[in-house]
Amino acid sequence: MIAQDLALALDPVLLAQRVGLDLDPWQRDVLRSTEQQVILNVSRQAGKSTASSLLALHTALYQSPALVLLLAPALRQAQELYRKVKDAWLALGQPVPTVEESALRMELANGSRIVALPGKEATIRGFSGAALLLVDEASRVPDDLYQAVRPMLAVSGGRIVLLSTPWGKRGFFFEEWVNGIGWERIRITADQCPRIPADWLARERLSLPPHAYRSEYMCEFGETLDSVFGHDDIQAAFDPPLVPLFDRPLFTPQSREAASGNGGGNAPKGATA
Ligand SMILES: Nc1ncnc2c1ncn2[C@@H]1O[C@H](COP(=O)(O)OP(=O)(O)OP(=O)(O)O)[C@@H](O)[C@H]1O
Ligand SMILES: [Mg+2]
Repeated sequence: MIAQDLALALDPVLLAQRVGLDLDPWQRDVLRSTEQQVILNVSRQAGKSTASSLLALHTALYQSPALVLLLAPALRQAQELYRKVKDAWLALGQPVPTVEESALRMELANGSRIVALPGKEATIRGFSGAALLLVDEASRVPDDLYQAVRPMLAVSGGRIVLLSTPWGKRGFFFEEWVNGIGWERIRITADQCPRIPADWLARERLSLPPHAYRSEYMCEFGETLDSVFGHDDIQAAFDPPLVPLFDRPLFTPQSREAASGNGGGNAPKGATA
């Protein structure tokens, strides 16, 4: 029986094989990764949702009772991911039966739950102790939503996987990719995907605006279209070795008071010039 199969429990790649999928090398890496934080900066249609949904199912089957949360910019997208998890569970012949099931969540007889979350910060709170959090289309998920879900991993020491194509140099997906600490980063461009034909990709390159092609297929973080100054230009404007012209604040509470005609004031200790 699959649920008790030790080999499957130890190697999620075998689970993919049972579902009938021959995974790409990077998909195998995702399933076998033991890192707590993983970012998949992966081309459109290369298979990031497929790989992640198998990880979700494996966690629910073999780390029970596990809470697996699926987040996306909108509930409909989280539901798409949930359907992939459910399809894999069906393809395996329902190895652990459900005790409760809806279009948005399933609870298995082993106590694990897989839940598609709504993409609204106000309605998302209330879950805690997640074993795994998948954030699909992460570059489009608002920062406040990301900040609201991260604490759900705090006590459980659960894992998080961000999966997306880039959407400009903005938001947490970009920040974590560039500056985040403790992330395993995987980048797979469309030309590395064996299921995307080269001639089709060449046509896409001609028909899409260059920034869209580079972002959707080449996984590049371009300038955000509405920004006046480029991200790199702004970063370059900061010169760390440069010594500040003034080594003390230009304005102190006293000088402000004096300027406003009120004379001195009760400035906090240490704030005076
Ligand atoms: N290893 C694989 N072998 C065969 N088919 C695969 C494999 N991985 C993914 N696919 C198929 O490729 C298609 C795209 O997969 P998936 O939806 O996971 O990609 P994605 O990277 O999430 O795409 P998008 O960015 O558009 O959301 C699906 O039809 C999926 O079944
Ligand atoms: Mg996807």
